[in-house]
Amino acid sequence: MTDTSAKLTVGDKTIDLPVMAGTTGPDVVDIRKLYGQTGMFTYDPGFTSTASCESALTFIDGEEGVLLHRGYPIGQLAEHSSFMEVSYLLLNGELPDAETLANFETTITRHTMLHEQLMTFYRGFRRDAHPMAIMCGVVGALSAFYHDSTDIADPVQRKIASHRLIAKMPTIAAMAYKYSVGQPFMYPDNKLSYTGNFLKMTFGVPAEEYEVIPAVEKAMDRIFILHADHEQNASTSTVRLAGSSGANPFACIAAGIACLWGPAHGGANEAALNMLREIGTPDRIQHYIDRAKDKNDPFRLMGFGHRVYKNYDPRATVMQKTVREVFDALKVTDPVFETALRLEEIALSDPYFAEKKLFPNVDFYSGIILSAIGFPTTMFTALFALARTVGWVAQWNEMISDPGQKIGRPRQRYTGPTERDYVPVEKR
Ligand code: ACO
Repeated sequence: MTDTSAKLTVGDKTIDLPVMAGTTGPDVVDIRKLYGQTGMFTYDPGFTSTASCESALTFIDGEEGVLLHRGYPIGQLAEHSSFMEVSYLLLNGELPDAETLANFETTITRHTMLHEQLMTFYRGFRRDAHPMAIMCGVVGALSAFYHDSTDIADPVQRKIASHRLIAKMPTIAAMAYKYSVGQPFMYPDNKLSYTGNFLKMTFGVPAEEYEVIPAVEKAMDRIFILHADHEQNASTSTVRLAGSSGANPFACIAAGIACLWGPAHGGANEAALNMLREIGTPDRIQHYIDRAKDKNDPFRLMGFGHRVYKNYDPRATVMQKTVREVFDALKVTDPVFETALRLEEIALSDPYFAEKKLFPNVDFYSGIILSAIGFPTTMFTALFALARTVGWVAQWNEMISDPGQKIGRPRQRYTGPTERDYVPVEKR
């Protein structure tokens, strides 16, 4: 795919660097020979202009607000597809026919149970442990239980590990919730859909029949679709970096969960709802807008802004619509939604946000839906991790299947002291 070349002149030396085109989106300058030819590195903290890999999974045009999975627009997938179908699509590249989809769903369903001994892990955590702390620990521990799917050189084992991770994540997340509220763990009910089963394991109790509300199941499934993958974001890049050393998939996904936890990434959905509740009523919005604009105040509008989207995040559009659907289905409302709508309106008409191209992202409205369904804010990021697991394993598989795959090893611009002699302690 080498199309043209770029010239880089340093002092009196000019070198040619190949320019490679993707199927769409920006071309990339291939700088792999740069160090060998010039003795220099590129410098790009935060990877604002660096493509770290080739990938055929997800395409984002941040300027236009476009998100495609394997070519399919996220709006269409959210409207017509299911999380299981999107999972198959991300893992395999094409939409399945009806029989293939049914087989895939059966495969995932058959892996939903957790090794019974894993239950004891939960009891080692304090009851008030954050679910993401539990998720990091329990998912990392899976590698100690499923040895038969940790050989990353074997495509069959990779596939089994991927299916196990996707299937067990709802069980792990639901158990984290149950542990925090002191209720018994619920075993999976494989008659239900992936998402219905998750709702039952979370909100059901053994003493009563649990009935899945179809509109809630649909909304939850859609939230999972909207979080399934997002190309080389921080947690996915973490999974790839961890995986590049040959680490087993369970350890890699635990690393992704750790990265996702941060408030600048997956933790923003929890932070966004906390912020909206703190704002409370629309009359207090301007104060928070002023704080967000103040350079001396660390406060930021959570759920606003994105490294890639310089336009409305297409996932936020679907989320906003879903809020109304869930309110209608549950016959509830939440004044925080009015505050969110008004905050969006005020921010978008403010030159600060317009100039910096800051728009609502996927996390701005998701917390309102999850709260209406009954999840505490601490569970929000765990749900994100559950859904993103499919993206993580698909990206990890893509990387491991690439014969040109190398260990990820960035370089640096060193700013510490140059070489100096050790001084014995009595002479310092
Ligand atoms: N509120 C106020 N100002 C903001 C915000 C915000 N939410 N986001 C960015 N800015 C400002 C910055 O202060 C900066 O201003 P400056 O150029 O005058 O210094 C400018 O916009 C650019 O921001 P950066 O932090 O440099 O942009 P970056 O791409 O590194 O960060 C990020 C993106 C982390 C998402 C940021 O917008 C943010 O912190 N948002 C709030 C947290 C959030 O919602 N995260 C979820 C992201 S989506 C996801 O992970 C699923």
